[in-house]
Amino acid sequence: MPDAPAAVVIDNLLDPVVHRAGLLAALRDGLTAPQKRLAPVWFYDEEGSRLFDEITRLPEYYPTRAEREILLAHAAEIADTTRARTLIELGSGTSEKTRILLDALDGGGHLGTFVPLDVSEETLRDAAEALSALYPAISVHGIVGDFQLHLSALPDDGARLVAFLGSTIGNLDPGQRHRFFTDLDAALWSTDWLLLGTDLVKDRDVLHAAYDDSAGVTAAFNRNVLHVLNHELGADFDPDAFEHVARWNEEERWIEMRLRSRHEQRVTIPELELEVGFEPGEELWTEISSKFTPEQVREELWAAGFVTDATWCDGGGRFMLTLAHPYC
Ligand code: SAH
Ligand code: AVI
Repeated sequence: MPDAPAAVVIDNLLDPVVHRAGLLAALRDGLTAPQKRLAPVWFYDEEGSRLFDEITRLPEYYPTRAEREILLAHAAEIADTTRARTLIELGSGTSEKTRILLDALDGGGHLGTFVPLDVSEETLRDAAEALSALYPAISVHGIVGDFQLHLSALPDDGARLVAFLGSTIGNLDPGQRHRFFTDLDAALWSTDWLLLGTDLVKDRDVLHAAYDDSAGVTAAFNRNVLHVLNHELGADFDPDAFEHVARWNEEERWIEMRLRSRHEQRVTIPELELEVGFEPGEELWTEISSKFTPEQVREELWAAGFVTDATWCDGGGRFMLTLAHPYC
């Protein structure tokens, strides 16, 4: 008889009142700043998570395929080097590619627990239940939480491998990245490991197409953030009155996703008791997606207390996985 899957445990670290107050304060700051901006965390309601999943299958969106290629080629080596008993995944989403790591770690016979952490509860629950059924010998302990706030609460029960895949790190600006890596370093022992996925700098046309695909899925993902604000806060954004813009910023080495107002308009956000005006052509920044050089990744990790043990790229040199550990 095959093992029955162990019950999935889900902890919620998001105090609904505190979490919402923090999001609202940041939203007010962002919408009243000279350059209006939103935090990317607003993207991932159920529809946003579904649209992101669709993006990962688009011909233009190479990062998911490139990272999968690297995982397939090196998961056994990663399992062998880390001998992790606990795999923690930050911003886990559907944990689709993570199955490659789980297969390798499970096959090595050391893995006991998988801990996916995501701010999106629905997606996390669905993924945790699916994985628990697929890997009955592994306990699945999901955490609804924010990787910018809750790293000190990560479970600490044996050699840990923390995977942060998909280049989600690139959605943080350099200051946020340094804080994130420093907090993660403080939360780990020198016997723990970090597996980090980073998208690499490349031809601007390839980058641009990945964030402005011909089927318009990324445009829908970008505009969906306004539906989220309408739904969550009773705002009256008209998503069709905003145009999707993706721009490669050569100097900062990041893609900027923006929503450009098609005409003059005013939007009310009752929950913030705020009315916001947009000029024709005025842009709301919704996301940055930083692209890295291999040296930069090594340096950013080192500056926060991590030493790099190995790096691997896909055959096209588009994406990189880094295995690192805290140096003290
Ligand atoms: N790791 C997956 C999913 C990437 S999409 C992959 O490689 O394909 C980014 C994921 O991060 C989404 O599931 C989103 O809900 C989650 N996320 C975004 N900001 C977060 C935050 N601050 N804390 C926790 N999860 C976050
Ligand atoms: C989740 N994150 C790494 C994606 C990215 O590529 O920056 C989000 C995304 N935005 C537009 N397309 C995909």
